[in-house]
Amino acid sequence: MKKKRIIGLFLIICMLASLCGCSSTVAEQQDVAKADTTNNAKVDLDAVMESVEKKIQNDFKPKIGIVLGSGLNALADEVDVVQMISYEEIPGFPHSTVAGHNGRYILGYLEDVPIIMMDGRIHYYEGYTMDEVVTPVRVMAKLGVDEIITSNAVGSLSADYPVGSLVCIEDHIASFVPDALIGPNDDSLGERFVGMDNIYDSSLRKTAHEAADELGIDLLDGIYLQVTGPSYESKAESEMYASLGADIVGMSTACEAIALKQMNMKLLSISCITDYCPNVDNKSTTHEEVLENADKVSSEFMNLVKAIIKKL
Ligand code: HPA
Repeated sequence: MKKKRIIGLFLIICMLASLCGCSSTVAEQQDVAKADTTNNAKVDLDAVMESVEKKIQNDFKPKIGIVLGSGLNALADEVDVVQMISYEEIPGFPHSTVAGHNGRYILGYLEDVPIIMMDGRIHYYEGYTMDEVVTPVRVMAKLGVDEIITSNAVGSLSADYPVGSLVCIEDHIASFVPDALIGPNDDSLGERFVGMDNIYDSSLRKTAHEAADELGIDLLDGIYLQVTGPSYESKAESEMYASLGADIVGMSTACEAIALKQMNMKLLSISCITDYCPNVDNKSTTHEEVLENADKVSSEFMNLVKAIIKKL
């Protein structure tokens, strides 16, 4: 009898212990989930800069930063290359995982102007944080370039923006992606709260139009809307984006523009229209179509960027 009571007591103690164990596991799991969703881990930009600056040979000082968008890497072949730095060589640096995107900085001369070029960019849809996504452009700004020219492939939300056209971005809608400035503010980069006027520098846009006119290129102006991707827009989504005032849609650029605006960097962004969104042509887009059409407009894009650089 006594023995049964002791066994019973033992079983009750075991059950209570396992219950306590369970509840502490749930609490631990909640902590982990909290840690994941409030992921404040920031790129150690100082360490990244130290590594990049150490790698740059002979005190090369780029004057202009250039970002090549999907399918627009042919401009890399026009550079009189001084040095290349693969993103993988830089500790703590994100690297591109997308077909059609290399992952390296090219340092050299374009039209005799010292430049640093991102041959391949990082996208949010690859699973990186926005802080990681904007790190490569922050590095170019920190290296002391005077201006940055970014490019991208975009879908058109209107028949007034035909496939094959080049668009000078005049403003953007970034409300559908997380803000690149979320998380502890790095005061060395700029203010905590950043105004978004003249994000795409008006004097650079004027220069781009002058260059386009001289080349006989019909450079459009438009409002860019950023989505996370990687899925392309549904018809209903593209109708909504058009109704909000956007002309073109893409998966990069606005987040980089926000990070650069915080640093007071003069920015010009040129988009190549590679496809119509389904509100225009009732068809969904494919990545092959994007790359194929980017390739078709690539030489016009190259001529335009080279002409702009000559004017800066
Ligand atoms: N949607 C989003 N991003 C894009 C598109 C598009 O249609 N084309 C190229 N990038």
